[in-house]
Amino acid sequence: MPQDAVVSTPTVAIVGGGPAGLMLSHLLHRGGIDSVVVERRTRDESETTHRAGILEADSVRMLVETGVSDRVLREGDEHEGIDLRFGGVSHRIDFGHHIGESVWLYPQTDVFIDLADARARDGGDVRFGASDVTVHDVDSTSPRVSFTDADGTPQELRPTLVVAADGSRSECRDLVPERLRRTFRREYPFAWFGILCEAPPSAPELVYTHSERGFALISQRTPTVQRMYFQCDPGTKADDWSEEQIWDEFQARVAGEDDFHLHTGPIIDKTVLGFRSFVQEPMRYGTLLLAGDAAHTVPPTGAKGLNLALADVHTLAALIESALAADDLDVLDHYTPRALERVWRAQNFSYWMTQMLHHPGNGEGASFDSRRQLGELASVVGTEGGQRYVAECYTGWPLRK
Ligand code: PHB
Repeated sequence: MPQDAVVSTPTVAIVGGGPAGLMLSHLLHRGGIDSVVVERRTRDESETTHRAGILEADSVRMLVETGVSDRVLREGDEHEGIDLRFGGVSHRIDFGHHIGESVWLYPQTDVFIDLADARARDGGDVRFGASDVTVHDVDSTSPRVSFTDADGTPQELRPTLVVAADGSRSECRDLVPERLRRTFRREYPFAWFGILCEAPPSAPELVYTHSERGFALISQRTPTVQRMYFQCDPGTKADDWSEEQIWDEFQARVAGEDDFHLHTGPIIDKTVLGFRSFVQEPMRYGTLLLAGDAAHTVPPTGAKGLNLALADVHTLAALIESALAADDLDVLDHYTPRALERVWRAQNFSYWMTQMLHHPGNGEGASFDSRRQLGELASVVGTEGGQRYVAECYTGWPLRK
């Protein structure tokens, strides 16, 4: 006989305990709404996954002002610009000058740790290491989430609402019936080869590089560990590349006439990351709401993924509070248009940065496109309007409820 499930009745069940799910749970708690977060991975697994590292100013404010943690201000690094490098020369886009905003270098792993700590501190109910997570009956007013907890005990949640924050491989998003959902996607014929290395930073801020050999990004982590990427073929195997080959490739891509010097050192991690653009609409169906990567994925070039996820749950938490206070779930119909407004801006920016900076391949028109990209980059860095546009998009659009 299967063991009877332990039943709980939180107001909101959140499937996925990454930054989106945990931040939502935190914001709801502040609004007096209880939730249970169910996450397949263990806390340890989540803490050791490398992800992107740039937070928009509003994401930083969300962490600090809602009382998650102010560690980002102490241990993060404020950047008031980025470099766009092409033709072997770096051109700085000065965010402070154009719009008086900045971004913060603070890895997603640290955002996760701060949120998981804050939930633990505030008595939040987060079930890491869950298995067999299944969502039922979201087309009714009594949805359920069943799972087996890390101890092997069957559990069932009977919430008012279910939020799917289960990432880019979301299974929950398939619960929106095919006749109602629309998906929009774009694949790219390249991937990123990402490394972590032991070296000092090569520049004060991030360097996004266009070169004849393809894109490279010189990012950072700490004073002694750096994160860098170069555009590669999607079929590339990280282990086929020796340390020497990797550094030769980076050096060739950033080579130039100015005084930029790439600092190298032992490589401590290497991975190939595929990417695509993806959106699923609508983001509400019945008692199910989609948040973060479960609803949309962006290429990493604009550093928007985590920020978009946080913006989604900022909007969603406010709407859930209003809907519950008014005892009217139709208030949640505002969620899709509000969230998508930002999502499509971010899709556009991420796509545009990707297309402008990556090698277009060898197909028809590719050599034309390479030269055209240089014209585009020159127009961006050579005009107030172009620089300001990058500054506005990169630092993020103001959050709205
Ligand atoms: C990173 O540091 O991992 C990073 C930074 C900026 C990006 C993408 C990745 O656009």
